[in-house]
Amino acid sequence: MQLQGKVAVVTGAASGMGLAIATRFAAEGASVVAADWNAERLETAITTLKANGGTITGAQGNIADQGTAEGLIDTAINTYGRLDVLCNNAGVMDYMQGVGELADDVWRRVLGINLDGPMFTSRRAVQYMLAHGGGSIINVASTAGIHGGAAGAAYTSSKHALVGLTRNTAWMYAGKGIRCNAICPGATITNIAESMPADKVDPAGAARAQAFAALAPGYLQPADIAGLALYLASDESRNINGAIIPADAGWAAV
Ligand SMILES: NC(=O)c1ccc[n+]([C@@H]2O[C@H](COP(=O)([O-])OP(=O)(O)OC[C@H]3O[C@@H](n4cnc5c(N)ncnc54)[C@H](O)[C@@H]3O)[C@@H](O)[C@H]2O)c1
Repeated sequence: MQLQGKVAVVTGAASGMGLAIATRFAAEGASVVAADWNAERLETAITTLKANGGTITGAQGNIADQGTAEGLIDTAINTYGRLDVLCNNAGVMDYMQGVGELADDVWRRVLGINLDGPMFTSRRAVQYMLAHGGGSIINVASTAGIHGGAAGAAYTSSKHALVGLTRNTAWMYAGKGIRCNAICPGATITNIAESMPADKVDPAGAARAQAFAALAPGYLQPADIAGLALYLASDESRNINGAIIPADAGWAAV
């Protein structure tokens, strides 16, 4: 039981990697606040996690909303008395537009969910962790956080910025018990394509991204990402801070 007695918040926990991470954390003894805006999927996830013996609280809402995001940290503290791990996993794709074709509302939506949300939760979590002995923050970035070819301008910018937030947080609070690391998944089998309806996708941008995607050596499963998240959440990684870790079957090695 690597997380016995610990309390974790996982965003985007109703599907894909977030569900795998919440499942793994709970199986390792953590009490988990599982957050997602998809009420139906969240209810199913909570029912399954509880049936498996997990200690889980569901929290439905939009991570891009400041009050909702900060409320997740407060829920963990009020429900379980502490916070040890924050996993900022919720995210959406853009529609593969380059900057010349980019619509303002797409930019704002993607940056709001993929970057504002993690900033809101991290700020609240750091304020708590500084006063209570530290903790581990895990940001789920992307291959698009370290390469320019995997998606459109909005998604790529949001994930590069999340990598920047990760490094800055790691540096600012190094030596104060707070660690912050990023996982950069490659192509992973989840429901993420639902955030990218075919009729909205820019064909030229998608073709450019496809040229890069063709270099990916293989697909990952959400459980692959959950294993790495568990390591970063646990005390095994006590001296790992500011690491930007590709989990992509070798794609980032290109
Ligand atoms: N699947 C991939 O190939 C891949 C690759 C690299 C990075 N990622 C990143 O991994 C993370 C998890 O995505 P996934 O692939 O598991 O996708 P997914 O769609 O299966 O899961 C994402 C979850 O986040 C939730 N979510 C989205 N926007 C939200 C919001 N505003 N508020 C609350 N919840 C919200 C969704 O409802 C969903 O349950 C994302 O940050 C994504 O960018 C995915």
